[in-house]
Amino acid sequence: MNTIKLYDKTFAKSITNEEINKEIKRVAAAINRDYAGKRPVLLGVLNGCFMFAAELLKNLEIECEISFVKLSSYQGTNSTGVVREVLGLTESIAGRDVIIIEDIVDTGYTMQNMLETLGTREPASIEIASLFLKPARLKVPVDVKYSVFTIPDRFIVGFGLDYDGLGRNLPDIYDVAE
Ligand code: IMP
Ligand code: MG
Repeated sequence: MNTIKLYDKTFAKSITNEEINKEIKRVAAAINRDYAGKRPVLLGVLNGCFMFAAELLKNLEIECEISFVKLSSYQGTNSTGVVREVLGLTESIAGRDVIIIEDIVDTGYTMQNMLETLGTREPASIEIASLFLKPARLKVPVDVKYSVFTIPDRFIVGFGLDYDGLGRNLPDIYDVAE
């Protein structure tokens, strides 16, 4: 099916599951190379990252661990945007090489906030792997070392990404129709 409807909006298929998996393999190969001989901790940001995290991990051949965090829904707005607390990180990341796994970096505020919070826990290094990056929307400089797809400023759903809770189960990516 090439178009779907979620609530009031129509979405059109834009990236197939096959293409997504192929590009994730490319990023996994880069991580395998860059982290050879290391044992990174991958830190998935729920809920959106779950499919990307699963597919990425299946393609990692290095020793690695995975843990998941959630960002609190509390939204304390300040001049820099929405700031949310990182919940669920019980293990120590001190001295560890951390790779954050995110579904999409939009304004960059979420990742900026995560980097600041995790930075206080003395990791050896922190990098970001994001399935999508919308460079036109970035409001703060966030260095996404492993970006699977760079996309224009358009709302997407599928492969873990949602529109108000729906669409996460779709194996392909759909763009909102104009
Ligand atoms: P940021 O703080 O603006 O970078 O927010 C990123 C978060 O916004 C992502 O983790 C998503 O949860 C959500 N988001 C941004 N763009 C989209 C989109 O096109 N589809 C679904 N969720 C999105
Ligand atoms: Mg997210």
